[in-house]
Amino acid sequence: MTNNEKLRNWVNETAALCQPDNIHWCDGSQAENDALCDVLVDAGTFIRLNPAKRPGCFLAHSDPGDVARVEDRTFICTKDEDDVGPTNNWRDADEMKSVMTKFFDGSMKGRTMYVIPYSMGPLGSEISRIGVQISDSPYVVVNMRIMTRIGTAALAVLGKDGDFVPCLHSIGAPLDKGQKDAAWPCDPDNKYIVHFPDEPSIWSYGSGYGGNALLGKKCFSLRIASFMARQQGWLAEHMLILGITPPNGEKIYVAAAFPSACGKTNLAMMTPTIPGWKVETVGDDIAWMKFGADGRLYAINPESGFFGVAPGTSMESNPNAMFTLESNSIFTNVALTPDGDVWWEEMSEEPPEELTSWLGEAWTPASPKTAAHPNARYTTPAAQCPTIDADWEDPKGVPISAILFGGRRAAVVPLVHEALSWQHGTFIGSIASSEKTAAAAGKVGELRRDPMAMLPFCGYNMGDYFQHWLTIGGQTEPDKLPRIFYVNWFRKSADGSWLWPGYGENSRVLKWIYERVSGDGKAVETPIGYLPTPDAIDISGSDIPPKNMELLLSVNVQAWRQEVESIREHYRRFGDRLPAALSQELESLEERLQNG
Ligand code: GTP
Ligand code: SPV
Ligand code: MN
Repeated sequence: MTNNEKLRNWVNETAALCQPDNIHWCDGSQAENDALCDVLVDAGTFIRLNPAKRPGCFLAHSDPGDVARVEDRTFICTKDEDDVGPTNNWRDADEMKSVMTKFFDGSMKGRTMYVIPYSMGPLGSEISRIGVQISDSPYVVVNMRIMTRIGTAALAVLGKDGDFVPCLHSIGAPLDKGQKDAAWPCDPDNKYIVHFPDEPSIWSYGSGYGGNALLGKKCFSLRIASFMARQQGWLAEHMLILGITPPNGEKIYVAAAFPSACGKTNLAMMTPTIPGWKVETVGDDIAWMKFGADGRLYAINPESGFFGVAPGTSMESNPNAMFTLESNSIFTNVALTPDGDVWWEEMSEEPPEELTSWLGEAWTPASPKTAAHPNARYTTPAAQCPTIDADWEDPKGVPISAILFGGRRAAVVPLVHEALSWQHGTFIGSIASSEKTAAAAGKVGELRRDPMAMLPFCGYNMGDYFQHWLTIGGQTEPDKLPRIFYVNWFRKSADGSWLWPGYGENSRVLKWIYERVSGDGKAVETPIGYLPTPDAIDISGSDIPPKNMELLLSVNVQAWRQEVESIREHYRRFGDRLPAALSQELESLEERLQNG
């Protein structure tokens, strides 16, 4: 319990509204965690994995209607629609409150209401923020315990007078007396992921999955935090943070924004294929960046775990993730092996002969469906990652020397290019585009603009967000700002195969970025920005065909002229909220393409 009056009142009000059978204040202890895992095993939500293979690990299979973020059910609620802009779903705050109140009325009947105090960022650090999630899902509690710092310690930081962001969550499945519970209770037809940035508070109803339900992550650390960051002069971004150390050289830190399921976790934990180079992990999904006293931008990872995409993760592609996942991890929507371990597509070259699929069905390699859901995920403690950076919990954060934007583009966008300036970098971030993935419900593969990889996560008008980026760039000397790059690991050849091997080979691009930052990377100026000279990317010791490199590092002027048209259309959405500096950047690009 707590002597914080705001929290006590909110818990009492919420209990009166949601009418749970019990209230449980989470202390965050191992004993509490073990007891909740037992509850989840008894309820059929969790399968305990074979302790000889995966000690402390559990598998959950969700309801097939609750497998990913739901962007069309995600709302930002304010007084004025203009506050949230054309990329967010807006509802009037008061109206939404009354809609949500009806859904929450009695929504926890027959269940326990868990109160989960948590800290985003190291406990007690000045940069950290306290949230309290109320949830009727023990699955959420044990996941939040990995992803954030929960329990008594967070309550102690909150103290008597501290402030917090109330995060109310219900799976929306009240139980009548004697009613048998589902293994994954939820309300698949009535999902609401709702943000009230002016309060701020978060109300989430109907889903138990990932970013819909673990409210510290996207809801707080991106949507609400981006809103706070604009008011307070910092940045809350959908970015991994990593350190790169060359042989006998100095470490630099880099942050990178790629859309969901476009390679952040893989890059953050990569094993470089270039001898002597080292990559260390600070975070894999979210960065909060503030100016230090020296005028540089410093980043912290507000999370304490990874909620990573399982399919495609293997000892080949991401051994450090595989090592992290050996124990104390939760797997959701992957397949179960007969000996009580997990499997997903591409985990091994040869799939096992028989499995239980994420749908709970018998599965063999001849089955037409995938064994794991494409957005199947693991929840795993960051501290277990073999490449975790020594300073990953430093409350000061780590100084950022470069920012990367990127996405999945089979054509047009080269392997890497560098912005001409911060303003031009803001421009290339604002036009970032990607083919849609399974991380959100909807059609996979469709091309969409995903500015700074924040399309689903910006808590206010995206036009104002672009302006905020420009403003940040004016707040320090230009040479103290991170340099901005754009990368694309996903170029394909005419036959549909990858032109670039990706994963650990991405270290070759990181090496060029390092060299650009330290002053010796060779580049040519093109209409879209600086590109590596033909010999500037080190492909020694690799089997990357030189003709692929040629394609990967070319700028197709004709294709880029068409791109300008699509950027113009993208920009039109923002009306007069689009900063003039960005329309100027677009005009300059067009001019350079005319002349080029
Ligand atoms: P979120 O957690 O949704 O924010 O995703 P993320 O950006 O962390 O993506 P992640 O690293 O989990 O990668 C998603 C998918 O992209 C996986 O299936 C990977 O195998 C694949 N992937 C990652 N890096 C590369 C790469 O360099 N090349 C190719 N071809 N695929 C990659
Ligand atoms: C993403 O979709 O970008 C994720 C997964 O990181 S979730 O937490 O579900 O949003
Ligand atoms: Mn993400």
